[in-house]
Amino acid sequence: MCGIIGYIGNKPANEVIFDGLTRLEYRGYDSAGIAVVDNQKIHVRKDIGKLRNIRKLLVDDFSSDSSIGIGHTRWATHGRPSAFNAHPHGDCQTSLMVAHNGIIENFMKLKKRLASEGHEFKSETDSEVLAHLIESHYDGNLKSAVIEALKDVEGAYAIAVLHKNHPDELVCIRKESPLIVGLGNEENFIASDVTAILQYTRSVVYLDNFEGAVVKRDGVEFFTIEGEKVEKNAVQVEWNPVAAEKGGFSHFMLKEIFEQPQVIRNTIGGRTSEEEGKIYLEELRLTGPDIYRTQRIVIVGCGTAFYSGCVGKYLIEKLVQIPVECDLASEFRYRSPLVDANTLVIAISQSGETADTLAAVKEAKKRGAKVLGVVNAKESSMTREVDGLVYIHAGPEIGVASTKAYIAMLTALTLLALMLGKIRSVLDPEFVKEKIKELKILPQQIERVLDKHEEIKELASQFLHAKSFLYLGRGFNYPTALEGALKLKEISYIHAEAYAAGEMKHGPIALIDDEMPVMAIVTQSDVYDKTLSNLKEVQARSGQLIVVVTEGDGEIAHLTDCKIEVPAVSEILSPIINVIPLQLFAYYVADLRGLDVDQPRNLAKSVTVE
Ligand code: M6R
Repeated sequence: MCGIIGYIGNKPANEVIFDGLTRLEYRGYDSAGIAVVDNQKIHVRKDIGKLRNIRKLLVDDFSSDSSIGIGHTRWATHGRPSAFNAHPHGDCQTSLMVAHNGIIENFMKLKKRLASEGHEFKSETDSEVLAHLIESHYDGNLKSAVIEALKDVEGAYAIAVLHKNHPDELVCIRKESPLIVGLGNEENFIASDVTAILQYTRSVVYLDNFEGAVVKRDGVEFFTIEGEKVEKNAVQVEWNPVAAEKGGFSHFMLKEIFEQPQVIRNTIGGRTSEEEGKIYLEELRLTGPDIYRTQRIVIVGCGTAFYSGCVGKYLIEKLVQIPVECDLASEFRYRSPLVDANTLVIAISQSGETADTLAAVKEAKKRGAKVLGVVNAKESSMTREVDGLVYIHAGPEIGVASTKAYIAMLTALTLLALMLGKIRSVLDPEFVKEKIKELKILPQQIERVLDKHEEIKELASQFLHAKSFLYLGRGFNYPTALEGALKLKEISYIHAEAYAAGEMKHGPIALIDDEMPVMAIVTQSDVYDKTLSNLKEVQARSGQLIVVVTEGDGEIAHLTDCKIEVPAVSEILSPIINVIPLQLFAYYVADLRGLDVDQPRNLAKSVTVE
């Protein structure tokens, strides 16, 4: 997603910054900009499009002697891709500029307050409030103004700030979004990841949450958000350029799995009000009458998107109490589907370009249904076909095996179900408030699961030679089993099938013997006891059980030693956390088998043909 770079030294700043931005291209972006200080004046250039197409504006026609500046590549969240919405953003007098990654959750409130105090806004972004907030606190000390401004801010941020009165310093600070400081010889750098600056320095300081830095040519002073000085140690980065593109991970898939806590923050960012129990889905474009008229919902998608839709069915039927049917887009389009003006069709797609899903959307519209797209890629074909949208804000997904887009789809569907349930008066506002609160702590709970990656790798190493796997789950986590099995077969080429655990006795149990590993999701839920009984049947037939369980579950101990514990969460949120160990398990099985995880055989990232 977005990328930041800041430079202060002795080279032409816009050239160094442009070079750094090109090295952040892999994160995906739709616009870019650079700001420098020259002769006590700020000069800004920004536009939409690929860097190679706007190089003329940002470098060739931007002659400047400045050796201090900041730059940004933007992946639109709040506000469409445009030159106005591109970063850096300035204050009223263009005295200062800010490049921001993350989401300011209370920006609407802050914008209203600042506008009433006379501040004039030029963009639709949440980020611009930061520039005006800093302006309102500035009294000659840039670091203090930044610290004071952030006291009002809720959300996630990594920011770099440039001020015309401070041609010898940049200020940066972070909370939740990553930020580093690169140390050079008479030159220093700020960047959202090391890739941007590796060609200049390998000496890097990683800022922790709520830490910032005043970056000068000849030194850097680190501070905490309370303004206290803090000592930080530099580390030497030993990456080759390809690893650096992957942020140090060996594969994009692994990087994307580890990005998931931040992805959830981005999907919910700025869309909820915990105090009021409200959810805002800005591009939904469904009117009250549309929502009340809906008698049936049909969810369509392919692969992982389809499985997220299967979780959507459980969510919507429970929280909105409307009947939901879930259909593979490739089946829906050819089976004369019964949809009409009282049916809401929800089409889910990461790429927004999947041929079958696009055809299903067209079929549904032809039959008079309203179609809502749950989509990741902005400006994709699907965004132009549908009546309304819920963007999932997963950022660019490069690994062919979808991981973070799935998590973002589940999060977006949860927000949608809570919102519809509230509007249709099925849900109590207190319940919605509680779930918003739980959604917000989910990223930290997922971080705890990610911390177990070595344990999961060790588990995976025991099953590298299995010929076939069975995945079992029930209720909300039946789709988790389907998605876990898909991940394993896609990248490890091991046959894996998923069943609703209650179906075992109706056939699949015949497959169980001591060579059949069975991966079961048996976290605390309304169907916990039922699932446990199904697993006892597997154990009685010598099947090798691997289980995903809730932390502290004592009952499971006598069934198997192969367990992965996850933190306790509400049943409706459990598919979001329970799939994480399954993604890691599939990843490690494939990697340890020496396979090409990011480009599995026969598969394409976006299936634009039938
Ligand atoms: O871009 P989409 O979400 O429409 O793609 C749908 C499927 O092609 C996709 O999820 C596919 O199944 C992935 N390889 C799953 O990892």
